[in-house]
Amino acid sequence: MSESGIALGIDVGGSGIKGAPVDLDRGNFAADRIRIDTPDGATPDDVCKVIADIVERFDGAHGHAPIGVTIPGVVTRGTVRSAANIDPAWIDFDVVAHLHELLDHPVVAVNDADAAGIGEMYYGAAKGHEGLVILTTLGTGIGTALIHDGVLIPNSELGHLELDGHDAESRAANAAREGEGLSWDEWAGRLQRYYSHLEALLWPDLFVVGGGVSKKSDRYLPLLDLRTPIVPAQLENRAGIIGAAHLAAQHR
Ligand code: BGC
Repeated sequence: MSESGIALGIDVGGSGIKGAPVDLDRGNFAADRIRIDTPDGATPDDVCKVIADIVERFDGAHGHAPIGVTIPGVVTRGTVRSAANIDPAWIDFDVVAHLHELLDHPVVAVNDADAAGIGEMYYGAAKGHEGLVILTTLGTGIGTALIHDGVLIPNSELGHLELDGHDAESRAANAAREGEGLSWDEWAGRLQRYYSHLEALLWPDLFVVGGGVSKKSDRYLPLLDLRTPIVPAQLENRAGIIGAAHLAAQHR
């Protein structure tokens, strides 16, 4: 952990790249978040420049703090491996090596849902929970994090389970609800199918539902009939930044 108990979290999203220093004792931002629009095309080089820009703005206060960066794709040993909803140029891009060339900070990169899962596990809706916690983010796609007794099993990618002949996220993500104009009731039917399938395969102890639409969870969670408790995320759009910062500090 950094000496001051501070690490920086950077969340790379489709419309914005957001970063903040995180107080790891409190699990909250230590200063206001900075947001810069995601550059058109969101190529790896351009996104890395924006990340470096955000980090440099915090350098006065947090010179060599570890940095955790969230990526909306699979990440193994610092390299991005998949690009379901991002530019294909990210595939096989070593984002950690590239950021090391730009920045004098220790850097880790982590899947966005995994980061949110860690954030909720240590500071939010799943805090202290034992057994298997599955966090799902319902957004453009479906991201998933599997955490067993506090240990993350990274890159679970359960949003891409095949369900009724479809990639599950194409039917049950929030983008499907918006794109197809589904009512809450209709969408809940799809979520029921998705979460029942996850239940049958993995027997989790808790589901945590994240993503922007988790703010409206009262519209659809009460419609679901599952044996597993299912609760909305608590950290809202801070979960990824906080979780990535936590992982960066642990990795040091
Ligand atoms: C990607 C995941 C990501 C999720 C949410 C999916 O399409 O495959 O890696 O976590 O979207 O961004």
